[in-house]
Amino acid sequence: MNDALPLVVANHKANKNWQEIKDWLKIVGPQAKDFKGTVLLCPSYPFISGAYEEINAHGYKIKLGAQDVSQFESGAYTGEVPAAQLVGIADYIIVGHSERRNNFLEDESVLQTKVNSAQNNGIDAIYCVQTETTPIAKNTMIIAYEPPFAIGTGNPDTLENIGKVAKKIKESIPYILLYGGSVSKDNAAHISMVPGVDGFLVGATHSLDPHSFAQILRSI
Ligand code: PGA
Repeated sequence: MNDALPLVVANHKANKNWQEIKDWLKIVGPQAKDFKGTVLLCPSYPFISGAYEEINAHGYKIKLGAQDVSQFESGAYTGEVPAAQLVGIADYIIVGHSERRNNFLEDESVLQTKVNSAQNNGIDAIYCVQTETTPIAKNTMIIAYEPPFAIGTGNPDTLENIGKVAKKIKESIPYILLYGGSVSKDNAAHISMVPGVDGFLVGATHSLDPHSFAQILRSI
């Protein structure tokens, strides 16, 4: 990862159509220009390449990422999107989000394969962990600490606990650490000042509304 910190990720999850993504970019694009760190949009797969064209056409300072990746390289895997197909348009891939672990039963070995696949294709994995003791896949540089109780609930983890977890995770390896879970314009400034926090993963609660997401960028 060579991009400037803080890294602020908008994880749109399974939301928005193409027109809504264009509208989102029109509002967040100009705001991202003045942001000192890196803005990363992770839309649904069908819109990544269109968003890439749109971002280039307007010169927006926004990077693109995928919300997931196939564990397979290529071939007879109906419905899968391998990392090789994301090369050139996505700079990051979110791996191991709790929604994928829970709904799609992705375990550590599948997640490691996904991280390897991202790395083999020159794409940075953002590896999500749910607690300070969640095992971290090898070849990972960016960790997103996302306690499930905080996701989509409006109740972020406490500053004290985020600090403790960040310290523990960075104990032996100097990972880049993002916090995710009910990040909003009202708490982003405070959380960004917690030692060890290098950015945010903002999910459906406050990344879908472009004004709300832009306010997070302005506040940190
Ligand atoms: P939230 O989601 O910001 O809506 O709490 C975070 C995430 O799931 O990445």
